[in-house]
Formats: sequence, C-alpha cells, structure tokens
Amino acid sequence: MKHLLKMLDLSKEEILSILNLADQLKYEKKHGIEHAVLKGKSIGLIFQKSSTRTRVSFETGAYQLGMQSLFLSSRDLQIGRGEPIQDTARVLSRYLDCIMIRTFDQKEVEDLAAFGSIPVINGLTDFSHPCQVLADLMTIREKYSVLEGLKMCYIGDGYNMANSLIVGGLKTGMQVSVATPQGYEPDPQVMDFAKQHDCFQFTHEPSAAIKDADVVITDTWASMGVEDEKEVRQKVFAPYQVNKELMQLAKPHAMVQHCLPAYRGQEITEEIFEAHADEIFEEAENRLHAQKAVMVKLLQK
Ligand code: CP
Ligand code: NVA
Repeated sequence: MKHLLKMLDLSKEEILSILNLADQLKYEKKHGIEHAVLKGKSIGLIFQKSSTRTRVSFETGAYQLGMQSLFLSSRDLQIGRGEPIQDTARVLSRYLDCIMIRTFDQKEVEDLAAFGSIPVINGLTDFSHPCQVLADLMTIREKYSVLEGLKMCYIGDGYNMANSLIVGGLKTGMQVSVATPQGYEPDPQVMDFAKQHDCFQFTHEPSAAIKDADVVITDTWASMGVEDEKEVRQKVFAPYQVNKELMQLAKPHAMVQHCLPAYRGQEITEEIFEAHADEIFEEAENRLHAQKAVMVKLLQK
C-alpha cells in the first residue's frame, strides 16, 4: 500500500490488516504502552474544508506515533491563490514524509499522489472518505467480532460516505443495502463495482433497505460544498430519516453509525441518535486508532 486515496484501491487483506493494527494500537493506548514508532517523521495536513474529528485525530495520532504534524489551511497555502497541485506536491515531498488532504475533487488527491513522491492520505473528498470508513468497519467489528455476513444498510445521500461504505462493506464480505432518493444515487464507478456483488441491494425505498440490517448508517443531507441546496434537500430527503419506525425493521440488536457532524431531526432523530450515542462516539474515537494504523502502514519501513 503506497497511499490511501479511496476504498476501491484497497484489497480485503489490506483493509483487514489496517483494522488489526488499529485494534492493537487502541489496546496499547488504553494500557499506556507507548508506540512512538514514527519518530522524526512529519505529516502535512491540508484542509480545504472544515474539520473537527479529522484534524484533531490526525494531529494527536501523529504526536502519539512520535511524529510532527503541520496544519496547512488552504486559506494560508499558495494553493488558495492558484498554485497548481502538481507543484505543491513536488515541493511538499521535499519537506514532509506524508500528506493528508481534505478537499473537493478526488482528482486533486490523485494528482497529489501522482506528482509527489511521498504517501498521500485522503482525509475526505466529495467522492470518498476512506479514513472514516476504516473507523466504521473497526467499530462494527468490535461489536460483532466479524464483518463477513453482516448486513450493512446505508440510508441517505449517495455521496462520499455512501461511496466508501459500499466498497468497504462489500470488500470485507458484508451484505450492503442502500437507499437514496432518485437523483442522489452513489457514484457510477461505485455502482459498477457494487453490481458485481450478489450481496448488494440498491433501492429508493428505505424500509426495503433496512430490513433485518445489523448496522444502520446515515450521513448529513447537505454535505460540505452543497450546503446551498439545504432547503431543497430537506424536502427530498424527509422520507429517508433514520427514526424509530424505520429502526423497528432492522434487527433488534442493530447498531447505528454516523460519521458526524449529525443534524438531529433531519437525517436522524434525537431519540435514535442518543440511544446509539455510545456506538457513534466509539466510531469517532476509532478515527484516531484507524488513522494511526494507516500512518504506520504507509511510513514504517
Ligand atoms: N467525520 C468527519 O470526518 O468529521 P470532521 O469533518 O469533523 O473531520
Ligand atoms: N458527507 C459529509 C461527511 C462529513 C464528515 C460531508 O462531506 O460534509
């Protein structure tokens, strides 16, 4: 594994090996066992969009691994004034050991990797959010001990989270069912991949998708970059709210995951969010452990 650009690039073995290492690092952290295995290395964190979890978990994770992290906001970088990503990649490769980037277009992340000479980690694009999905898979496996055979149901916008969950779920042997409104389907590249799997189900009907699910996942209706569509989306997505009535169709023990930030009363009710808060905040914590595992995999010689 040279980079973490999108879930489509990872094999099942690579995903499981990241999750195993993440479990180990979590155990070590809880038991006060130091693991500063990347001493002397530097990671640059480029943000072209807001972040709470990704920024803080990468900064603290890097520190725990003995690394230096640099927060690079696009407001301050020359990227914000039009310096091409190709040049930024070649310059930063001469200072840093790794780059994490959160941006809009997946192509920018791919270009950064192609033109630079150091590992690149995708910290969210419009197309994918692989760091989040690794943490989600880790959290699901913590509860059920396995992933293979479980039914994951995603309800909501066919955006970065849906795209990555579908691929991550299918690659690890889960059944994946997805319900989005018409016109908000997952990316065609992801749908093409998913359609090759018998255990993939796509529908516009949330009650069909959620039936007997072990894991129910949703995401905001108006992601970063499309906030100006908020009002239209609130109407379109209203039947896709994860609420008590819908949850009654899932398995009785079903868990709920949400990448956060959550908008209570929109994609998820307050009641369901709070009933599953422990699982959702464990998922948020697991960002730290999963990303540390990714950094170790990419950087440890
Ligand atoms: N889930 C997630 O990526 O959160 P942030 O936007 O706060 O980083
Ligand atoms: N789909 C959301 C995820 C936030 C972590 C967004 O892109 O804004």
